[in-house]
Amino acid sequence: MPAAEPKTLFIRTYGCQMNVYDSERMAELLAPLGYRMAAAPDDADMIILNTCHIRDKASEKVYSELGRLRRLREVRAAGGKRMILAVAGCVAQAEGEEMLRRAPFIDIVLGPQTYHRLPEMIARASRVSGVPVLDIEFPPIPKFDALPARSGAASVSAFLSVQEGCDKFCTFCVVPYTRGVEESRPVDQIVAEAEQLLAQGAREITLLGQNVNAYHGDGWSLARLIRRLAKLPGLARLRYTTSHPSDMDDGLIAAHGEVEVLMPYLHLPVQTGSDRVLKAMNRQHTADDYRRLVERLRATRSDLALSSDFIVGFPGETAADFAATMALVDEIGFASAFSFKYSPRPGTPAASGLDPVREAEKAERLTVLQARLEAQRREFANTCVGRVLPVLLEKPGRHAGQLLGRSPYLQPVHIEAATARIGDEVSARIAAAGPNSLAGELAVAEADA
Ligand code: SAH
Ligand code: SF4
Ligand code: F3S
Repeated sequence: MPAAEPKTLFIRTYGCQMNVYDSERMAELLAPLGYRMAAAPDDADMIILNTCHIRDKASEKVYSELGRLRRLREVRAAGGKRMILAVAGCVAQAEGEEMLRRAPFIDIVLGPQTYHRLPEMIARASRVSGVPVLDIEFPPIPKFDALPARSGAASVSAFLSVQEGCDKFCTFCVVPYTRGVEESRPVDQIVAEAEQLLAQGAREITLLGQNVNAYHGDGWSLARLIRRLAKLPGLARLRYTTSHPSDMDDGLIAAHGEVEVLMPYLHLPVQTGSDRVLKAMNRQHTADDYRRLVERLRATRSDLALSSDFIVGFPGETAADFAATMALVDEIGFASAFSFKYSPRPGTPAASGLDPVREAEKAERLTVLQARLEAQRREFANTCVGRVLPVLLEKPGRHAGQLLGRSPYLQPVHIEAATARIGDEVSARIAAAGPNSLAGELAVAEADA
């Protein structure tokens, strides 16, 4: 086969880690067609926006970006150059047809479950000029069965999707509609992909799923999959995200105490501390269930740190409900957290909620919550100062001799470590905690080793 003509590809990724993973797979899929990654959209022959529908702001960003790209495309067309514009991801899935009406200049609209067919879509878009391609099916044969093996260099910390979609139907959330029903990938496929990533330079793997701890591929639980992967030579660290509290089973809790490579850090979204709101959200657990779960996890692994997601201003949330959230935050103590104002999403049950919270009230609650969460983050970071932590080195730092890595708790750590290499896991004495990162130096024993 003659080598494909070189072209450039730019992908802008919005949303969660699964979109980051999907973008990597799209880039790998298009490499044999001659596409090399471009650092900016300006000169790219193909641009993919990999979109997120989770909140209104996330979706709207896509339309403003499309406006900019339309102008860029016109400039390029005036110079006689073609640019293929594709919109992928969850907004494309949710609003595909409407999107083509609003932005008819898009060439390709594709969903998260059809990107393995991108090469055909590009061929169609190139042939039938002017007629956009729309492919937002949920195909009967999963994309994972059709995608080529992982190729190219892996990052030190790599993502691996093991589960997709969600059957939980939290009343605020679009994911069950954009990603479809819960599907788990077969064990062998996951093990093979993990081996490829490790062979290509990964040292840490984060298993991804919208509801990752509901994993049940080939009848295996996530805990069993974790124990299997933990045996792979070269794997230094294993993580998984995002977990639903009601799917944290005994085996998974136990794995935290027994599997050495499993990092002592867990993202466990609780959303709210109010039982009334949890019920209205259809979260399927109470605030006390969450407290007990955290207690059990900490009893299993005393150095486990937690992060979480919160929504304020869910329809009907009262001042007392919000106070219950603040009380839960105070009791648990989070190392890090994301928090959002409730955003009504089209087609979700909560969007027709009769008792919306006023915007100003939402904003105020968010400010109060974020201040508390930020104080907890800082407090946790300060407890790291003076400790020796394992740091996995991921990339060069700001100046020569400095490297940037991550602590077990995902904090970025700047290290003066001229003798260490990217990909090493070193012991670092943490000297200071800044607003976004820690600073440290190689601990003596490690430096001498
Ligand atoms: N599967 C994960 C979350 C996926 S979405 C889980 O079950 O927790 C990531 C986060 O976005 C959610 O945890 C929630 O906090 C937030 N989110 C989802 N829908 C939202 C909405 N309509 N408005 C505001 N925040 C939302
Ligand atoms: Fe959305 Fe709930 Fe599923 Fe998470 S568990 S993806 S919040 S429906
Ligand atoms: Fe967004 Fe889709 Fe992820 S809606 S959060 S990109 S699953």
